[in-house]
Amino acid sequence: MAPDTYAVEVEGIAKRFGKQPALDGVSVRIRRGEVYGLLGPNGAGKTTLIRSLVGLVAPEKGTVTVLGRRMPQLPVLARVGYMTQQAALYPDISAEENVRFFGAIHGRENGVREALEFVDLWDRRKSVVSTLSGGMRTRCSLACALVHKPDLLLLDEPTVGVDPQLRVQLWDGFRKMAAGGTSIVVSSHVMDEAERCDRLGLIRFGKLLAEGTVAEIKTRAGVDRLEDAFLKLSEVSES
Ligand SMILES: Nc1ncnc2c1ncn2[C@@H]1O[C@H](COP(=O)(O)OP(=O)(O)O)[C@@H](O)[C@H]1O
Ligand SMILES: [Mg+2]
Repeated sequence: MAPDTYAVEVEGIAKRFGKQPALDGVSVRIRRGEVYGLLGPNGAGKTTLIRSLVGLVAPEKGTVTVLGRRMPQLPVLARVGYMTQQAALYPDISAEENVRFFGAIHGRENGVREALEFVDLWDRRKSVVSTLSGGMRTRCSLACALVHKPDLLLLDEPTVGVDPQLRVQLWDGFRKMAAGGTSIVVSSHVMDEAERCDRLGLIRFGKLLAEGTVAEIKTRAGVDRLEDAFLKLSEVSES
């Protein structure tokens, strides 16, 4: 495949905090237009991996290539959308003003309405962020991450605290964006969203335990449920 086929190429990255390895030799390739699920329990290294894709974490070993460029590289970030685990918004201005501001940073004036409609917040656009519920803030944060129509969207546990109905709606939206060529990395510590991803990486103790479609991972582990695959593959990697 041509190098440009991949939105993300991570080769053998490692990162420690103190003596504790947060990432311990992780390699991942994510294709253009692919929805890649990063699944793992709390402390597995999901956030650290996502941060290393945008240059917020500098790996001690290995390389990170995003949209064909070795990272860190400032111009590439203009084509990346990043939604952090804790909604990062200005609490004292409205939802619409937040989204407009994030768009403006990326030189975009349009797309604010589209982004707010995407997350079903158009009716609440005038509300000051501090008055919104946790789920609404998450949605607003998502709108801020995608208002500039990024080629790569990094979503760190985007559906935590979002009700089931909207969750389905958001996933439909993610699939639509992927169909339009956007690559999406979405992390989660719950298994029930795995089926929505094209491919998964199971991560634990900073290591990728397995990669593939849900079916491939289950087959490889010889189990029927993804939860069991996790336990099985964790045992194998520890022994
Ligand atoms: N800034 C940091 N300073 C110290 N330790 C950190 C820092 N960020 C992450 N860690 C540690 O690295 C490991 C992986 O964390 P993280 O990437 O946040 O996992 P996840 O997102 O899967 O919950 C954990 O043991 C966590 O405590
Ligand atoms: Mg995390």
